[in-house]
Amino acid sequence: MKKLLLTGGNGFFCSRFTKKYKTSYEIFSTDLPEVDITDEKKIMDVFTEFNPDYVIHGAAIANTDFCNNNPQIAYSVNVTGTLNVARACKRVGAKMIFISTEQVFNGNLEDGPYTEENVPNPDTVYGQNKLEAERLLGEMLDELWILRFTWLFGLPERNCPMVPNILWNTISIVLEGKRTKVTSNEYRGLTYVNELIDQFSKIFNIPYGVYHIGSKNNLSRYDISCLILKELGLENRIGDLLENDVEKYKNHQRDIRLCTDKIAKYGINFSYTRDAIRRCIKEFRFKV
Ligand SMILES: NC(=O)c1ccc[n+]([C@@H]2O[C@H](COP(=O)([O-])OP(=O)(O)OC[C@H]3O[C@@H](n4cnc5c(N)ncnc54)[C@H](OP(=O)(O)O)[C@@H]3O)[C@@H](O)[C@H]2O)c1
Repeated sequence: MKKLLLTGGNGFFCSRFTKKYKTSYEIFSTDLPEVDITDEKKIMDVFTEFNPDYVIHGAAIANTDFCNNNPQIAYSVNVTGTLNVARACKRVGAKMIFISTEQVFNGNLEDGPYTEENVPNPDTVYGQNKLEAERLLGEMLDELWILRFTWLFGLPERNCPMVPNILWNTISIVLEGKRTKVTSNEYRGLTYVNELIDQFSKIFNIPYGVYHIGSKNNLSRYDISCLILKELGLENRIGDLLENDVEKYKNHQRDIRLCTDKIAKYGINFSYTRDAIRRCIKEFRFKV
């Protein structure tokens, strides 16, 4: 059985990953407080002892506002910590998956969907950290997959944390019962986390390189929120709960969608976001 080490193992993505693959791989899931990726010696010791075949590096500070307000802390985790993980991969000969983000394109002025050939121009600390880490890892490692994820969504699962995501954010609006502004000037790929996880083991068999990952989507953020309420049987609450925010991004639509044609060539395909939302709600039998 191949040995797989996860960093950020308790997070939204990796905790769900472990549920799915715990009998397919020998998984060693690491996270704070025991294994801090900024502790270079600890990382080297843990990697040397476990001697993984593959590493999925999921640890990060992914909160954009926190990173903008605390750039040094963000850099120490998202860049320096990532380099510690990469050095340890090199030492033990492990193949590394680095999880990057669509946010590397958040300052680009042209519209998406962006291909892997487009030059990213991030305008947030988080996006800049991820792009810098991509570049430094590329110089250091040959056996490296860089996966730029779109924004993931899912529903609560046992022993798995939640992070802000379009589906849960919209359900939270219902729970709070407070009319909330949602922009119709933003377009992103929104990907069902379990659709990604179900296909994830195929990544280990594709050539190394940079890949864009996730759903295609032609609907604005506002339209997706309306769709979610409809799918939950709450169409009659749309007017009370959602306010179409036409002011936000009105001068320049925010479009950070990713083109996923490259990964599709290797048989890794994703639904359109609208179908993925329906699938998730159906799988969880989540109706009100
Ligand atoms: N979720 C998305 O939509 C999305 C989209 C694009 C890319 N990504 C990337 O995918 C990866 C996983 O994301 P996620 O949504 O699962 O995020 P998450 O839930 O925030 O998971 C990240 C994990 O890393 C841990 N961590 C933070 N600082 C650490 C440190 N110094 N040492 C070790 N672990 C540390 C966090 O612990 P604490 O919670 O205790 O801080 C958390 O358990 C991240 O690299 C993220 O940038 C996610």
